[in-house]
Amino acid sequence: MRTQVGIVGAGPAGLFLGHLLHLEGIDSVIVENCTREHVIERVRAGVLEQSTVDLMHQIGVGERLRREGLRHGGIYLCFGGQRRRIDFEDLTGGRSITVYGQNEVIKDLIAARCSTCRPLYFEADDVSISGFDSAEPRIRFRDAGGMREVACDFIAGCDGFHGICRPAIPPACLRMYERIYPFGWLGILAQAAPSSEELVYSLHENGFALFSMRSPAVTRLYLQCSPDEDLAAWTDERIWDELLERLEAADGWRPNRGAVLQKGVTGMRSFVAEPMRHGSLFLAGDAAHIVPPTGAKGLNLAVADVHRLSRALARHYRSGDTDLLDRYSDACLRRVWRAQRFSWWMTSMLHRSPDGNEFDFRRQLAELDYVTSSRAAMTSLAENYAGLPFD
Ligand code: FAD
Ligand code: PHB
Repeated sequence: MRTQVGIVGAGPAGLFLGHLLHLEGIDSVIVENCTREHVIERVRAGVLEQSTVDLMHQIGVGERLRREGLRHGGIYLCFGGQRRRIDFEDLTGGRSITVYGQNEVIKDLIAARCSTCRPLYFEADDVSISGFDSAEPRIRFRDAGGMREVACDFIAGCDGFHGICRPAIPPACLRMYERIYPFGWLGILAQAAPSSEELVYSLHENGFALFSMRSPAVTRLYLQCSPDEDLAAWTDERIWDELLERLEAADGWRPNRGAVLQKGVTGMRSFVAEPMRHGSLFLAGDAAHIVPPTGAKGLNLAVADVHRLSRALARHYRSGDTDLLDRYSDACLRRVWRAQRFSWWMTSMLHRSPDGNEFDFRRQLAELDYVTSSRAAMTSLAENYAGLPFD
């Protein structure tokens, strides 16, 4: 097979890129190692920045998002039993966020891909890449029909943190920056109507908790746990008791209880690999960087990367000009490091570290008090959370 851009991974980065390229008249092949069902059912992100929402509408995949997405004009921070609101719309000149599950985004993008009839392979085994530092980039994989080879002009490594593209770059050509946090999140999806219209981030003596949602009938909740927490030790009853203890506010607000539909534990890390390009291989999304989920930035950063990459490739195919391709890594990394700083800051402010003490806890409460009472501090949080426009 021959294509212009070979894309490894059908997560948000790979599928957005495939569609953006299609709209520019650029051909691509997407190769994914999991099943279609797994890719669709994986429960992950839920918060879309304004720019991600705008892009979905612009590229014609926003019809269901318009109907089913839950637009939020702010968030609550809860500490010392008080819930205080940060009003994004007021502080940022009208910007907002939208709650719409990553798996719904994925469904919409797979449907869009299928309607273009451009190739998308699921269940590809033994995926490998080669030739990206010579003139012959190739993706190889095995499927039911046997071994296949895709010759391409460029490879987009959109295969997430555990993929094969970043490790294919010679280690001497990459610099990696990393912080692993001494805690994780235990997340549940519950059959319960959300009792608040907006998200609630809470810092409690027992640790962090987050109230989010997926629809008018489904709540999504998280609580801080240890990174290797044994899920078997957490009955549904225990999870609810702990969530209610950490989230209940003095004004009587608390989440509604309901049947637990799904649960899991996630570790937390900050990670950046630089540069995001090696020869004709371009890394995008989690393949190049990871943020802890507290700032809700991961999916949105992946979209910002591929938006930039699609414009750079379009320029190259239209006029032979490689300037935007050459500037891809530096331009992405500027946004990436801003999001790293914000995600690290939200995480540090809202979690109890096992090596912290009562002084640290008091300092965190004072920071939350400041962040929810100074207009300057609230504006800084609001503009980072709602996200900068794509440039
Ligand atoms: P991925 O989604 O990881 O996609 C990579 C794809 O590549 C996968 O489909 C994978 O199966 C495939 N792949 C891997 N290896 C290979 C291979 N060898 N060959 C072929 N294919 C391969 N972000 C937000 O913005 N907002 C949030 O609210 C938020 N909440 C989160 C909550 C949780 C619990 C978690 C875990 C993450 C959250 N994130 C959030 C982060 C977000 O989910 C990720 O940043 C996002 O999925 C990154 O997209 P991606 O396409 O780069 O990578
Ligand atoms: C989610 O709804 O899954 C979610 C919301 C906000 C976050 C992380 C995850 O910061």
